[in-house]
Amino acid sequence: MPEIAVSILGITGLLALVSLLPPVANRLNLPFSVLLALAGCALGVIVFFGQNLPLSGLPGDFVTALRGFEISPEALLYIFLPTLLFEAALMIDVRRLMDDIAPILLLAVVAVVVCTLVVGFALSAVADVGLIACLLLGAIVATTDPVAVVGIFRDLGAPRRLSILVEGESLFNDAAAIALSALLTAMLLGTRNADAVGTTLAFLKNFAGGAIVGYAAARGAFALFGLLRGLRFAEITLTVALAYLAYIVAERYLHVSGVVAVVIAGLVTGWHGRIRVTPTTWDSLVDMWGQLAFWASSLIFLLAAMLVPHLLTDATWSDALLLGILIVATLAARAIVLYGLLPLLSVSRMAARISNSFKLVIVWGGLRGAVSLALALAVSENDRLSDDVRHFVAVLATGFVLFTLLVNGTTLQPLLRLLKLDRLSKVDRAVRDRAIMLSLDTIRERLSAVAESDRIAPAVTARICESFARRIAEVRRTSAADAILSDADLLQIGLITLATREQELHLQRFKERVVSRKSVQILIARAGWLLDGAKTGGREGYESAAQRGSTFTTTFRFALALHRRLGLTRWLAQELADRFERLLIVRMGLQQLLTFNTRQLTPLLGAGVGEDLTMILGKRVTTVEQSLAALRLQFPEFARTLESRYLERVAAQLEGAEYVDLLAESIISREVHNELARELSARWRDLERRPVLDIELKREQLIARVPLFGSLDAERLRAIARLLRPRLALPGERVIARGERGDAMYFIASGAVEVQIAPSPVRLGSGDFFGEMALVMHQPRNADVTALGYCHLLALRQRDFERLLAGNPDLRTRIDTVARERLAAPTSTAAQ
Ligand code: CMP
Repeated sequence: MPEIAVSILGITGLLALVSLLPPVANRLNLPFSVLLALAGCALGVIVFFGQNLPLSGLPGDFVTALRGFEISPEALLYIFLPTLLFEAALMIDVRRLMDDIAPILLLAVVAVVVCTLVVGFALSAVADVGLIACLLLGAIVATTDPVAVVGIFRDLGAPRRLSILVEGESLFNDAAAIALSALLTAMLLGTRNADAVGTTLAFLKNFAGGAIVGYAAARGAFALFGLLRGLRFAEITLTVALAYLAYIVAERYLHVSGVVAVVIAGLVTGWHGRIRVTPTTWDSLVDMWGQLAFWASSLIFLLAAMLVPHLLTDATWSDALLLGILIVATLAARAIVLYGLLPLLSVSRMAARISNSFKLVIVWGGLRGAVSLALALAVSENDRLSDDVRHFVAVLATGFVLFTLLVNGTTLQPLLRLLKLDRLSKVDRAVRDRAIMLSLDTIRERLSAVAESDRIAPAVTARICESFARRIAEVRRTSAADAILSDADLLQIGLITLATREQELHLQRFKERVVSRKSVQILIARAGWLLDGAKTGGREGYESAAQRGSTFTTTFRFALALHRRLGLTRWLAQELADRFERLLIVRMGLQQLLTFNTRQLTPLLGAGVGEDLTMILGKRVTTVEQSLAALRLQFPEFARTLESRYLERVAAQLEGAEYVDLLAESIISREVHNELARELSARWRDLERRPVLDIELKREQLIARVPLFGSLDAERLRAIARLLRPRLALPGERVIARGERGDAMYFIASGAVEVQIAPSPVRLGSGDFFGEMALVMHQPRNADVTALGYCHLLALRQRDFERLLAGNPDLRTRIDTVARERLAAPTSTAAQ
């Protein structure tokens, strides 16, 4: 081991090299990792074959340092993997990942297994290292590095869902491949038996255990975040500790998958962290992790590539043959998944439909990166494995990674050109042109305003504005010559622009701190659905995405189920409050979009298309208004509180901006500013505390609203209260389905329901009851009953129904009478 100064020279020298490569990669139009691999190989040649080079002084020490690096397999995995994986998990858009979690997990795990098996069996037929070693190689090369493909998708404006699918797959396939290769290594070392069932169980245990550790560690860290609020550097440091501690505790002390633990910890941090930490801290945190991951992946690339020349001296022609088989096998495995498995998922509507050219890009763009190299290095440095296996895995995995980088990486662009994917579609081109025209137009308007307020000579202003007008006319001319667009195309362009604009508006609201991070994430994701919908299905796609976006979220439904089954109301109240907040923000956003449409889009797209857009937006406004009205009707007090809160936030935001201006203009001193800012931030803390929505599900209060129970004495009322269960029904929810077996009847404490009977439906309101006929007459439900708005119901289960009526003959007579009346005159409205 060289002395410490020389070792540091080695590392920093490599970092200096790394920092100089990105501009070169840009200039040569090559993926950065390809260039890194080339630079690493070149260094490797100097280090291993340059013994006789006359190097002395700094260059000599640098080469000595590189030659002296002794990296143990553990060191490699412990140093680099947590950073790489945590960062990848942190950056992914968790909400969108969760939208497609089923296909992503399926794709990731199945793809790894397919690759491991195909490569394992194909190679074991020719190589003489045994099936397990071949499977190990298969697992190592099963990880994919999505950066290249995702970058291309972004440039091409491919639907966001496609990128999420590829990114998510790569995140989980890293975890699956690493866990699998650890198991296979243990088998090779003889510390685990090679039986299929045992291995699968161990794999699952490993995976699930890691997930639990990761989740628990992240939650623990968040409990600490509460203490660190606002201390940016401490908060960021805590995330670094989290990543490494989760990994080490899982791997070393609990013997479950450390990799899975890190990935889950990263996802949970990405999800909750965004909500908990302040936006500026979050931005620094993302920057810091981006930096760490850049160092980790660049160093790993360089270090691994440096070994290549050395490895290749040992390589034989038979290795070249094996490499050829490996390449074909991995391509085949990926093709099986994309052409065999993915269509099944698309048919079952679990995954986005993917065009054949995109599939080909995904297959060919399956570059392997830092994770495969780290695993291969770990095997090659593991001296408990036989020399043959180490050589086999190291040469083939490294050779394969290099092949994907040098061949696939450099031919991806030509392939795109061949598939004509590099050209923007007619609509995309038009969207681009309209966007340019819009911004030029806005700039021109602002310029005139600035010129007027700054008293610039009118002639100068006119000349400059004139040049903008010319540029706009030029874009309009080329764009008109470029393509004759149909009305449907224009409408699609309008919808894409509106959805993009909607995302910007929500982000703006978040920056102004008038909406919580949690809500804004959901809103942006839903605007993303609109964008994807408009891109893939035009008007229909947009409208069905809007429809999907107006429904209750999965967590809402979950909270509702908990409320129904276990009587828990707190979470449900929180979800309702969130929905309220989101509806308010969407309504405001829609209002702005309507103005944007009339002022800016309609002049560009024509009056007809403008009207259509107004209609589509109008439909959304109606839906949102209805949902808001339903909530307001049931929780008027809360609606008022939320609205005034919103206005107070806007006020605080304006006040903050004002203080900054006063400071900038030196009207107030820094001390005064700090004092004011402190007061304001205390107010913000108060404003950011969400008011608690009381969903008023207290039994006694609800019972008091049902006149039927009015004549009962206090003791009976108490007895009844024990039997009745409060339940909140949502607007449009079917509480009773015709033909089902009746298990309960309901009293309406507030709200209204509709009984669907011929010839016309009947409405029942506060104080009425329904669902009694099935219980009284022992027959199936005779009609559908749907909640019209939010309803507070009191459910009386069949068992309790019998018990209650046995002790209250008066009640029985009244319920019996109503039931018989309803049976006899199906259209008459029921009275008590
Ligand atoms: P049940 O048959 O248990 O479930 C459907 C319910 O709709 C039924 O009980 C009554 O409570 C209600 N219902 C059926 N017919 C009428 C009617 N004509 N007027 C009012 N309510 C009715």
